[in-house]
Amino acid sequence: MLRFETAGESHGECLVATVAGLPAGIPISLEAVDRELWRRQQGYGRGGRMKIETDRAEIVAGVRHSRTIGSPLGILIRNRDWQNWTEALPVEAQPDSADKQRPVTRPRPGHADLAGAIKYNFHDARYILERASARETTARVAVGAVAKALLGEFGISILSHVVAVGPVRLERDAEWPELVALSRRDEVLLGCVDPAVEARMKEVVDEAYRTGDTVGGIFEVVARGVPLGLGSHTTWDSRLDGRLAQAIVSMQAVKGVEVGFAAEGAASFGSKVQDTIQYDREGHRFTRGANRAGGLEGGITNGQDVLVRGLLKPISTLRRPLESVDMTTREPALAAYERSDVCVVPAAGVIGEAMVAIVLAQAFLEKFGGDSLGETRRNYDGYIEQVKSF
Ligand SMILES: Cc1cc2nc3c(=O)[nH]c(=O)nc-3n(C[C@H](O)[C@H](O)[C@H](O)COP(=O)(O)O)c2cc1C
Repeated sequence: MLRFETAGESHGECLVATVAGLPAGIPISLEAVDRELWRRQQGYGRGGRMKIETDRAEIVAGVRHSRTIGSPLGILIRNRDWQNWTEALPVEAQPDSADKQRPVTRPRPGHADLAGAIKYNFHDARYILERASARETTARVAVGAVAKALLGEFGISILSHVVAVGPVRLERDAEWPELVALSRRDEVLLGCVDPAVEARMKEVVDEAYRTGDTVGGIFEVVARGVPLGLGSHTTWDSRLDGRLAQAIVSMQAVKGVEVGFAAEGAASFGSKVQDTIQYDREGHRFTRGANRAGGLEGGITNGQDVLVRGLLKPISTLRRPLESVDMTTREPALAAYERSDVCVVPAAGVIGEAMVAIVLAQAFLEKFGGDSLGETRRNYDGYIEQVKSF
């Protein structure tokens, strides 16, 4: 079973991830992992923090000579900002450390501040927001890069793009080569494949900057080359659509998920929604009239592209803060403001890619298993033969 954990706070010393259950022999490139971390940091609308950090992964366990060795991976990403917080958030209390704390007593609506403070019994939401922060997703993206390395060995690629920022929406499908080109950009604006739509998206972010507001949106993750047969219809928790949905909604600020064209489908008649089935006698294979199901039927991958969308609410920290209450005095107060992002939809797409990669890698290893990549490949090749001769 492929599993991972992350630890680390936004202004702590570093983020840490452990990944267990990978077969030995997967080629791992630190450059590829760092490229994913870089992609997560991009996009128009990010706050000052991303200017401080240049994320780099250090793999401290589980990889030797650029290949996994079957033991758990340990991955570490240092927070450069930590040096500005060593006095405010020391690991060991110092005699005068209470004076240097930067307490957050005015919880932000939409953040974990209030519920977390009450639940964990702190009168300072700092300890909550440090971990609730999406800085944690840096570790997820590093793990996702490793999952992508496994999947890449079997011809599976995962990319993303931005479908909407606020009310501005891309009203057409994106082609795979457009996603590839997007992923290779060295300057990222809003991660939309259509430059005219992207320019309108930028205007929305500019308006949020001008008015001290924030804006959400929708990203789409596309996985190509996924074999038919990952996931299963047989039990609720083996249905892959449900597992992908959990992974996407577990992301900070993601409040909705769509598999395929779910929202459109809900508003249409069945005759317009289901993907018709044909048979290509020359190619000896079944084909489909469209891919509105997003590559999943009955919780099983059907060999088409897997399409998953995440719906992000606008960021909760506003420069023009909302109504709140001071947790100490119980008096009305404006919510705390701390340097913050205004729009993160392109970055969320990259995190979404990581989450989809991890879930697909889990399902892939459940199906094909193996302690070494060679063993996984034998199992995979045997199954692909079976599918071809069906
Ligand atoms: C890439 C990314 C960056 C984020 N940056 C911020 C930020 O700068 N400020 C903020 O208040 N929330 C930010 N968030 C969202 C919060 O982490 C999130 O809203 C908060 O943890 C509460 O969780 P919930 O919105 O899922 O309920 C970000 C989310 C993502 C995905």
